[in-house]
Amino acid sequence: MSIQEKIAHLEREFFEQLATATSLEDLEQCRLTFLSRNGTITQLMTILKELPDQEKRIVGPLLNQLKKTTEQAFLQRQTELKAMLARADQERMRTFDVTAYRFHELQGSLHPYTLTIEHIENIFMSMGFIIADGPEVETDWYNFEALNIPADHPARDMHDTFWIDVPGMLLRTHTSTVQIHMMEQGKLPIAMVNSGRVYRHEATDASHDIMFMQTEGMMIDTNISIANLRAVLQEWLTNLFDTKNLNLRLRPSYFPFVEPGFEVDISCPFCKDGCSVCKRSRWIEMGGTGLIHPNVLRACKIDPNKYSGFAFGFGLTRLVMLKYGITDIRLLHSAPIPFLQQFGHQY
Ligand code: DAH
Repeated sequence: MSIQEKIAHLEREFFEQLATATSLEDLEQCRLTFLSRNGTITQLMTILKELPDQEKRIVGPLLNQLKKTTEQAFLQRQTELKAMLARADQERMRTFDVTAYRFHELQGSLHPYTLTIEHIENIFMSMGFIIADGPEVETDWYNFEALNIPADHPARDMHDTFWIDVPGMLLRTHTSTVQIHMMEQGKLPIAMVNSGRVYRHEATDASHDIMFMQTEGMMIDTNISIANLRAVLQEWLTNLFDTKNLNLRLRPSYFPFVEPGFEVDISCPFCKDGCSVCKRSRWIEMGGTGLIHPNVLRACKIDPNKYSGFAFGFGLTRLVMLKYGITDIRLLHSAPIPFLQQFGHQY
């Protein structure tokens, strides 16, 4: 093949490839093949030096022409293609439906508190309980006085209280306040459950925080006894932990607002013969319970000779940590995204 033929051949090849380039990647490929330092057109230029002068005079202008036309054509195609792609992009954006979403990919997850509270509330609603609520900023009356904890009562020392600037007001130290709000409404009988935040002025570490959550329950009617208390506790804890063989243990204890009062333990739902969760004891402490003290009923204008009731207050934060194997309370209360993404949306 003569050099003239080679030039004509390369030119044809170049324009064929350029015409079929529909993306910037195709275009780059074309540049690499023909126009880059090792490209076939550039390479052809290098043989010019080795040609006898006479031939140089003929081939030189031809090669220069080839280089010029191919480079120009390349730049022109590049400009065209970029404009075309930009137009296509614009068109796509014009018809982009911002209200469309891909359900499965965008599904978030619920906080373990939300999941557990929902679960607890479903269990209690199935037993005919109502879901109650109460304020987190409280008066001395709801947090202490009405719950049979007068000003000089030593039990106040157990609640490291955050008092706020308004005299007599505080951040509630327990959800037992909701009992009083419910009783004061004057509607009997009552069967209620409430989960909410409580605050205590404590040093924080992996298992303590100044804010945590409790679940409070209460039932008042005529003839309510410890048998009712046991049955309700047994039912909801069995459901919550989804085990058939959950055992309850009531240990006599003291809380000013109940008489008698107990601490509640459940048999460890995670093992048969001791594990790290129950610290090899087979029992896990859940919270306090008892029959509502007559002084509390009286403070809410309920006749203790006619009505009786039980109440319980459990550590919801602790329960969530147990249930999901969370070892640092601060994860629950600072909510880092990778932590949250583990929980899905079903309890
Ligand atoms: N309020 C108590 C606390 O935070 C827990 C408690 C004990 C609640 C006994 C109750 C109860 O309703 O009956 O330590």
